[in-house]
Amino acid sequence: MTSHFTRILSIGLLYTSSALAAELGLPPVVSPEHNPTTAAKAALGARLFSDSRFSAKGDVSCASCHTPDNAFSDGPLQTSEGTAAFISSRNAPSLLNVAYNTSQERDGRTDSLEAQAATPFISHSQMGLKDYTSILNIVRSEKAYRDAFYAVFSKTPAALTIDEISMALAAYERSQIAGDSAFDRWRFGGQSAALTESQQRGFEIFLNEGNCASCHSVGKDSALFTDQQFHNIGIGINALQRKVPQLSKALATAKANGEGLADVVLSDDSLSHLGRYAVDGKDSSIGAFRTPTLRNVSLSAPYMHDGSIDTLRGVVTHYNNGGVNIAGNRTSPWLSEQIKPLNLNDQQIDDLVAFLESLTSTRLLTAQQ
Ligand code: HEC
Ligand code: HEC
Repeated sequence: MTSHFTRILSIGLLYTSSALAAELGLPPVVSPEHNPTTAAKAALGARLFSDSRFSAKGDVSCASCHTPDNAFSDGPLQTSEGTAAFISSRNAPSLLNVAYNTSQERDGRTDSLEAQAATPFISHSQMGLKDYTSILNIVRSEKAYRDAFYAVFSKTPAALTIDEISMALAAYERSQIAGDSAFDRWRFGGQSAALTESQQRGFEIFLNEGNCASCHSVGKDSALFTDQQFHNIGIGINALQRKVPQLSKALATAKANGEGLADVVLSDDSLSHLGRYAVDGKDSSIGAFRTPTLRNVSLSAPYMHDGSIDTLRGVVTHYNNGGVNIAGNRTSPWLSEQIKPLNLNDQQIDDLVAFLESLTSTRLLTAQQ
C-alpha cells in the first residue's frame, strides 16, 4: 500500500513540474482563480485519488477506473466497474489533458473539474457512498491527511469540507498534461522527419477528405483535437431510434423522482445512449456526445461513450461507412450532417490510423517500454 502511494505521489510531482511549462502542441493550463495549482496541492490530490476507502465497499478509488499507469483509463474494460462490481453503462475516459475541457463528463453535465470531483463518491454506480461523512472522518482524523490539508489550505480538521477535497483532486487532474507527441514535433516543433510518410498522408486526410478536423480541431499554434461541442456520430442510438419517445419518458420520470443524472445515465444502457439530450432536452442533442480529444488515443481502447469499438481501425471504418459499423446499416435521423460516407480506400484508412497513432506523448511512449 505504502509503496503504491509513494509511486503515485512521485508520478504526481513529476507531472506537476512538467505542467508548469506548457508542453509542445498544447496551450498553457489555466487554473480557476480560487484554486491555483501547486505541487503540494496536486500531491495531496494524487493521494486522495488513489484512496479506495472512499467507496462503499472499500474496493474502488478514482484510480481504479482512471489508472495513472494506464493513461488514466481502465482499458480494456468496455464500460467501467464501480463499487461491489457494479457494471456501469459508460466507458471511463482518459483524464490526460482533462484540464482543457470546457465541460466535464461525456455529456457535459458538469461545468468544472472541482464540481465533477465531488460526484463519483456518492454515485451508486461509481463509489456508492450515501454522503461525505465517512470521507471527512478519515481526512479529519488521519495525521498525514490533517498535516497535508493544513499545509495546502491552512484549514484545521474541523473546518475541512468536501470542497477542499474536490479542489485538491482538481489540481491533481489539472496537472496531468501530455503533449509533445511525434505529431507535435512535426507540426509545431519544426522536426520534418518526426512523422512517417504514411502519418503525413493521414494528417492530410484528417484535415480534408476525412473531414475529421471539423470536430477534432487543430489550431495554428496548438491542437486540442476537440471543438468542445456535442455531436451525434451514430454510436449506440442507431439501434434504438424507435424507442426514443419511450426513453425520453423514462428519463423525465427518473428526473421527477429526484434521481441524480449521473446515476440515471450510468446505470441504464439505453438512457445512457441519449447523451447530451439528458442534460439539455433538445431534440438536436439526441445521441450527441462531446467531441473527445484524440491525444494519446492509441493508449485508451476501447473507444466511444459505450466502449463499443475495439480498435482505431474500427473507428475509422465506422466513419468511412458514414456513421455505422457495418456498411449498409441504418443511421438515426439525428446523425450530424458532418458525418457522411467517405469512400476511403484501404491505404487511406491505414494512413489515418497511423496518424492517430502519432498523437501519443513521447513521455508516455518511453514510460510504456
Ligand atoms: C467506477 C469507475 C469510476 C470511478 C470510481 C471514477 N470515475 Fe471518473 N469517470 C468514469 C466514467 C465511466 C466517466 C464518464 C461518465 C460520463 O460521461 O457520464 C468518468 C468521467 C470522469 C471525468 C470527466 C472526464 C471528461 O473527459 O469529461 C472526470 C474529470 C473524472 N471522471 C474524474 C474522476 C474522479 C476525480 C474520481 C474520484 C473522485 C472518479 N472520476 C471516479 C468512471 C469512474
Ligand atoms: C461531427 C463531429 C465529428 C467528426 C466529423 C469526427 N468526429 Fe470523431 N468523435 C466525435 C464524437 C462526438 C466522438 C465521441 C462519440 C461517442 O462517445 O459516442 C468521437 C470519437 C472519436 C474517436 C474515439 C475517441 C475515444 O477516446 O473514444 C476517434 C478515434 C475519432 N473520433 C476519430 C475521428 C476521425 C479519424 C474522424 C474523421 C474520419 C472523426 N473522428 C470525425 C465527433 C466527430
